[in-house]
Amino acid sequence: MSEEAVIGPDEFKRVLGHFASGVTVVTSVIDGVPAGMTIQSFTSVSLDPPLVGFLPSRDSSSWLAMKESGSFCVNILGFAQEDLCMTMASRAEDKFDGVDWVAGPTGSPVFPGSIGWIDCTIEAVHEAGDHDIVVGRVVHLEAVEDGADPLLFFKGGFGAFS
Ligand SMILES: Cc1cc2nc3c(=O)[nH]c(=O)nc-3n(C[C@H](O)[C@H](O)[C@H](O)COP(=O)(O)O)c2cc1C
Repeated sequence: MSEEAVIGPDEFKRVLGHFASGVTVVTSVIDGVPAGMTIQSFTSVSLDPPLVGFLPSRDSSSWLAMKESGSFCVNILGFAQEDLCMTMASRAEDKFDGVDWVAGPTGSPVFPGSIGWIDCTIEAVHEAGDHDIVVGRVVHLEAVEDGADPLLFFKGGFGAFS
């Protein structure tokens, strides 16, 4: 039997930071109260049926609210939304104070300025270490075609596509 390698959290984060990606804010609403968290671990899962996924930490209060609501909306962030990205990455209870949003078909918040959004119902939740793997069934989606510059994340910093 091979010995399991000991991988420290700092080394883990440093190497995984080399994976460049877009950034999303996943939102939900429960009893009229909005919830949202910044998510890099967004992915498409299946074309037919249309499924997407993301991986929230199980200690996230926003994810707990989303799970209870049964639906979520993935906002794909534009380059001008870095402030929103950082606001939604905080653990503050008043994250939505002063933030503009409109309700999508499931009621989950859609932010003006997002370059695309994907509204879903929760199809499945799988445990994976200290995170969950959430699979959503897409009920509605839209994209901005013109001037849609994405916000990109790489090695802990933000950048643009050029
Ligand atoms: C660029 C970026 C990407 C992130 N991606 C994830 C992610 O994929 N999964 C996750 O659990 N947290 C991720 N986070 C951290 C969460 O946004 C943060 O822990 C969460 O919003 C905490 O608030 P809450 O307790 O209200 O959920 C990310 C943060 C940043 C800045």
